[in-house]
Amino acid sequence: MTYVDTGLDAVGVNRVFHDHECRYYDERFAIVHDRRTARQALRDVESLLGRALRPGERVLDAGCGTGYLAAGLRRARPDVFVAGADLSAGMLANARAAGAAPLAQADAARLPFADRAFDVVVARGVLHHLPDVVGALGEWRRVLRPGGAVVLVSEPTPTVERHGGVLVRGLLAALRRPLTAEEDFWEVASMAANLHVFTPDSLGALARAAGYRGVALSTTDFADTLLITASYVVWGRAPGLARRLPWRRADDLARAADRVFWNRLLPVSWRHTVAGVLRP
Ligand SMILES: C[S@@+](CC[C@H](N)C(=O)[O-])C[C@H]1O[C@@H](n2cnc3c(N)ncnc32)[C@H](O)[C@@H]1O
Repeated sequence: MTYVDTGLDAVGVNRVFHDHECRYYDERFAIVHDRRTARQALRDVESLLGRALRPGERVLDAGCGTGYLAAGLRRARPDVFVAGADLSAGMLANARAAGAAPLAQADAARLPFADRAFDVVVARGVLHHLPDVVGALGEWRRVLRPGGAVVLVSEPTPTVERHGGVLVRGLLAALRRPLTAEEDFWEVASMAANLHVFTPDSLGALARAAGYRGVALSTTDFADTLLITASYVVWGRAPGLARRLPWRRADDLARAADRVFWNRLLPVSWRHTVAGVLRP
């Protein structure tokens, strides 16, 4: 598909949008690149993988963005090799500043790495930006060693679109600030960059089509995704107010509420992100 006004395809739209979003990404997603975040990133990956990363293992963070996983895992486990790849030069510059290395600018569906170069591929919030999900998952399988695994940390479900939509409309009504023409442009670009939502079944079917035999996917998160949605909107519309609010503390509380209540109480279809492991 080509976006008529820009001449860009979906990958190009993602590159341009994320080169812009990198300026405020960490702020809006409540990411601080410190030891606490590093421990959290390691927990995110190891709890899904079902084991600790082993010394000397080689991990690829596909679509590493500003380095939540790539820098976090490296900080938490200096004995593990962690490479990052991303389409956006701006995101990669931030990831480098956060401590991620080595890094490659690349389309996640066409990686500049040899076959069987990694033990684990991790990806957080990336697949929903890729036009050819089966092609990208196939590429990640190509760079995995035998016995390796892809860890998917967070992909949006149809439910988060619905719940997030209600929250966004409420916040916009409360904040009552119309967008400038430039902000409006990037809002549209953001919509064009988000290509898919998934359920465990729909993503599982794509993974099987890409050649994975071991597919273990479920849903997780409720409060945390709503909190991050609110953060994104308030930072975008009312940065003065956003600066006064304790987003990181709220993020900790929302994560705890998900762990203790929502992930246990809510049915699978009510939760907001798909996560899990794929094995060839
Ligand atoms: C929502 S951000 C997630 C970033 C990071 N994984 C994190 O957890 O914060 C999506 C990332 O995917 C990257 N991306 C989008 N399309 C891509 C593609 N075709 N190849 C590689 N990276 C891509 C974007 O540049 C952006 O950094």
